[in-house]
Amino acid sequence: MDNKSDYRTNIIGAGEVGCAISVDMDKSAIHNTNSFFWDTKGNDALGTIALPLYGAFVSEEKCQFFDDVSRKKVLEIGCGSGQSLQYLGEHKASELWGMDISEKQIEKTTRRLTECGLSVKLICSPMEEECGIPENYFDYAYSVYAIGWTTDLECTFCRIASYLKKDGIFIFSWSHPIHKCVAIENNMLAFKKCYFDESWYSVSLDGSALSLSDRKLSTYVNALAKAGFIIEQMIEESDDDIMRNKNSDFAKKAKMLPVTFVIKARKL
Ligand SMILES: C[S@@+](CC[C@H](N)C(=O)[O-])C[C@H]1O[C@@H](n2cnc3c(N)ncnc32)[C@H](O)[C@@H]1O
Repeated sequence: MDNKSDYRTNIIGAGEVGCAISVDMDKSAIHNTNSFFWDTKGNDALGTIALPLYGAFVSEEKCQFFDDVSRKKVLEIGCGSGQSLQYLGEHKASELWGMDISEKQIEKTTRRLTECGLSVKLICSPMEEECGIPENYFDYAYSVYAIGWTTDLECTFCRIASYLKKDGIFIFSWSHPIHKCVAIENNMLAFKKCYFDESWYSVSLDGSALSLSDRKLSTYVNALAKAGFIIEQMIEESDDDIMRNKNSDFAKKAKMLPVTFVIKARKL
């Protein structure tokens, strides 16, 4: 992975947030904006971040959040172009399921997994909504850089809990909120945004818009607890081995503060 792709993963950082426009939290407007972005620009603009990576500098191979997935049913929330499903399919998961708001992303996943000879069940829907995913069914639900797009975190976590069997595992990664507040400028770290500000905003990328909000870490933790999860592990550190020889501003920043977080939680 070159420096440019490292950066694209977390391209919406504090610098971009500084130029953002405030928007109302209007669920259907946000879904329209974001599904249009993922249908038309998607990974070309933002890059792909997929297993074995959870973020630019965190890897499943080092962290081992998943145990042996053979004979396990797995569900990806916001499956994007299907690379993570391919990874778990190659590790012999017994059933692969994915869901995504974007029809084009679902098409990409279908194409990728068909080419690999892997069978997958895919659903096109916002993660916040009822969409026919079976309940009390999965051993693992996971999401790599997609959960933060939800307009309703508590509802999304409750839905994910309902899909899992008792003791089922939920693993997700997202941009660390402190990365969204601090920019690197002239080799200095500068606070550009208030950590407590969870309001919605729109950013322009590659001529198209995306709408999002930056939630505090406690918002994720409390929403997990409310949905009936217990946290087993959380990672904020960048992996030294992946960081070695990376000298971009983004990598310099990642040496000073977390750019990604990963949480592993168990359904009680
Ligand atoms: C950064 S990608 C991550 C996916 C995958 N890891 C990848 O890199 O291809 C985010 C994905 O979340 C999907 N997404 C955005 N908002 C969503 C929502 N409300 N419900 C379900 N999926 C959503 C997008 O369509 C996109 O495929």
